[in-house]
Amino acid sequence: MKERSLAILKPDCLEKKVQGKVIQHILDAGFEIKGMKLMQLTEDSAKKFYEVHKERPFYGELVAYMTSGPVIPICMEKENAVADFRKLIGATNPANADEGTIRKMYADSIERNIVHGSDSPENAKNEIAHFFNEKDLV
Ligand code: CMP
Repeated sequence: MKERSLAILKPDCLEKKVQGKVIQHILDAGFEIKGMKLMQLTEDSAKKFYEVHKERPFYGELVAYMTSGPVIPICMEKENAVADFRKLIGATNPANADEGTIRKMYADSIERNIVHGSDSPENAKNEIAHFFNEKDLV
């Protein structure tokens, strides 16, 4: 059964101009892109998106970083999308990411880690709704 997940290509991805390469990895791995946009996150929107982390010591920096430049949220679909996308991107800290994963190839640090991926199908639904109206998905 098809499942959806949300990716966000983060400001460091666009700064490094590797967004085209990362999108190609996503397509090569068999994900279908249902929605995608280039946008600047507001502070309110980033705070809300990362609300689950609000008690963490890195929350303020995370919000500042995610609003430091444009991002590309992508709604993707395939069987087992959530788990398969997390495998494709690798561990949150690129130092621990497996060879061949997107974060191993392109990321510098746990904060500047190129891409976000939903961590459960339920969170994926909420995260997709944060950025997209169902009627705008193809
Ligand atoms: P992401 O998958 O977008 O979800 C939460 C983000 O918080 C994570 O990627 C990291 O970029 C960031 N993050 C997680 N742990 C830390 C940490 N210890 N220090 C700084 N940033 C972190």
